Amino acid sequence: MSDIIIDPAAFRKVLGSYPTGVCIITALVDGKPAGLVVGSFTSVSLDPPLVGFFPDKSSTSWPLVEKAGHFAVNIMGADQQPVCRAVSAKGEAKFLGVDYVISDHNLPIIANSLAVIECRLYSVTEAGDHWFVLGEVLRMETVREDDPMLFHRGRYGSFAQQI
Ligand SMILES: Cc1cc2nc3c(=O)[nH]c(=O)nc-3n(C[C@H](O)[C@H](O)[C@H](O)COP(=O)(O)O)c2cc1C
Repeated sequence: MSDIIIDPAAFRKVLGSYPTGVCIITALVDGKPAGLVVGSFTSVSLDPPLVGFFPDKSSTSWPLVEKAGHFAVNIMGADQQPVCRAVSAKGEAKFLGVDYVISDHNLPIIANSLAVIECRLYSVTEAGDHWFVLGEVLRMETVREDDPMLFHRGRYGSFAQQI
């Protein structure tokens, strides 16, 4: 245990200064899609090809994805807010109304994602109240080159180029 005391509200406010992209991690469990929205996705290593993200230990969807042993990372476009809102809700109905197909790796691929990265679960490391998950890339594809969905201080937004 650390003896440094950090105020949780200050921690959230300061770290909330940093915007993120938005991905949906998906897996197929007993023939049904499972998954969660993450802002913590990142590229990690080229050799071997690894990507990572941080699921909260309180997530009920992460253990399902972990059990599947494989997952897809669906990178959200700025026009996919309804999908993000549906999948970030808790409960069984989160994929109702979400368009997806099942890939050759048996993973749900969300329609119109900007890009898709299919992974084998590589490692899960404890990281405080989160897990640090690495996936080994099996297949990747850029579907369309449109603007990404961004998230900042609790709001969805999109990219504005500065000239
Ligand atoms: C933009 C955004 C980013 C999020 N990032 C993360 C994340 O990195 N890790 C995480 O565990 N949950 C994250 N969440 C919360 C989960 O998507 C989701 O709300 C939660 O996992 C739903 O509960 P469940 O996992 O029990 O289904 C994020 C939610 C939103 C809207």
